Amino acid sequence: KEAKLWGGRFEEGVTDAVERFTESISYDWQLYKYDIMGSKAHATMLAAQGLITTGDRDIIVEGLDQIKRLIQEGKFEWRKDREDVHMNIEAALIERVGEPAKKLHTARSRNDQIVTDLRLWCRDSIDKILIRIKQLQVALVMLASKYVDLIVPGYTHLQRAQPVLLPHLLLSYVEQLERDAGRLVNCRERVNFCPLGACALAGTGLPIDRFKTAKDLKFTAPMKNRQLQVHFSTYSIDAVSDRDFVLEFLAANSIAAVHLSRIGEEWVLWASEEFGFLTPSDSVSTGSSIMPQKKNPDPMELVRGKSARVVGDLMTVLVLCKGLPQAYNRDLQEDKEPLFDSVKAILGMLEVCTEFAQNISFNSKRIQSSLPAGYLDATTLADYLVKKWDTIIVAYNVSLSALQGVPFRTSHEIVGRSVALCTTKNCQLGELKLDDLKAVHPVFESDVYEYLGVENAVNKFISYGSTGSEQVKEQLEDWRIQLGIS
Ligand code: ARG
Repeated sequence: KEAKLWGGRFEEGVTDAVERFTESISYDWQLYKYDIMGSKAHATMLAAQGLITTGDRDIIVEGLDQIKRLIQEGKFEWRKDREDVHMNIEAALIERVGEPAKKLHTARSRNDQIVTDLRLWCRDSIDKILIRIKQLQVALVMLASKYVDLIVPGYTHLQRAQPVLLPHLLLSYVEQLERDAGRLVNCRERVNFCPLGACALAGTGLPIDRFKTAKDLKFTAPMKNRQLQVHFSTYSIDAVSDRDFVLEFLAANSIAAVHLSRIGEEWVLWASEEFGFLTPSDSVSTGSSIMPQKKNPDPMELVRGKSARVVGDLMTVLVLCKGLPQAYNRDLQEDKEPLFDSVKAILGMLEVCTEFAQNISFNSKRIQSSLPAGYLDATTLADYLVKKWDTIIVAYNVSLSALQGVPFRTSHEIVGRSVALCTTKNCQLGELKLDDLKAVHPVFESDVYEYLGVENAVNKFISYGSTGSEQVKEQLEDWRIQLGIS
């Protein structure tokens, strides 16, 4: 068996079970690009500080580049007995270039190395997710643009509530995604500080230049950076201790995943025979192994399903961290699989939601024919009455104070009675005769019919951010500009 790089004080090797149990190479090999990037920056800094020669630096950098190529070509052998990505690469480098490679770990510990790798990995992953979020937003805005005038039932409690324009609903997803992106951008700012040079926990007695490595790796600054007065500056112990940046990233992913899950749920529901509001194309549907007629919206069900693992990943790392004393503990090795899993899931979810948005059509006829049901215009009718009271106040010079605070509740009650009448007559509000309405309350006049029916109802919305068609057209145009859609 090969001696461990840390094996100086050991008289015997670890058991096979311990080796299998403690290795992380089976998954942390994915960090190789960042590990090599960090090592190159570290070697360059060591040479600039006179801690190694420029000749050794060149040999190290060249050797690391060769290793990177081998890995990318699939020709590198990852060895479990070498534990993790750091040891695998360092041992391979020593094999290739000999003595100079043994100087690479000067003023460095795996504790600051792993957290540097991880921060670099998170930074890139956030950038990938941000691109996918934008792609989904674009797909949703394009979809909305195809149905500018389509009125759909708006639901609360999954019961018919008020009519809304379809783009208004689709843009609500776009807005949510924008906040998801914002959370990731904020998180990225805090991710982007460099722990390298914190070493095991206490820093080092060697004259390293942490500002140089931080700059080379495109970090904002080293963790702790008093000069820049950043409020989230931290000391070497904190640099190797905390995984709050991982938690924050996982939390942002979880919120985004929950948003996507809700879209998934809505679309699955709308694709059902009962709703029949949308049809996914065959390219984003799957069939049944037994029922020949089936065409299922599986991708969106799995979007809903995968949100569970994203939330679970956050829980795993929260619980992982809660009992740890300060500085590095080996438990922290367990942060990687949930982190990788969360990012993989969220990227897949975003991609599939985008493809779904590009490949569904809304069934305008079916939606329109369903609109008369459910009294979607009832609230608009209550608004009509509120306005009507105003005219009464003016026309009959009724004292304002006598009516203040009463009208909406009164209106609500009157419309409620009108709806009750409809249920006995088995008709819609717009189908009630003026005499019927007047029997409920004499305040109704013939202009009431300008408020009834979903189309009239939608047109009555005027408040900022509402579903009125002017507002929605503006919202859509704003998004098209913001997302660069011509
Ligand atoms: N594989 C370890 C991890 O993922 C790297 C750091 C190990 N450090 C140590 N002193 N054993 O956290």
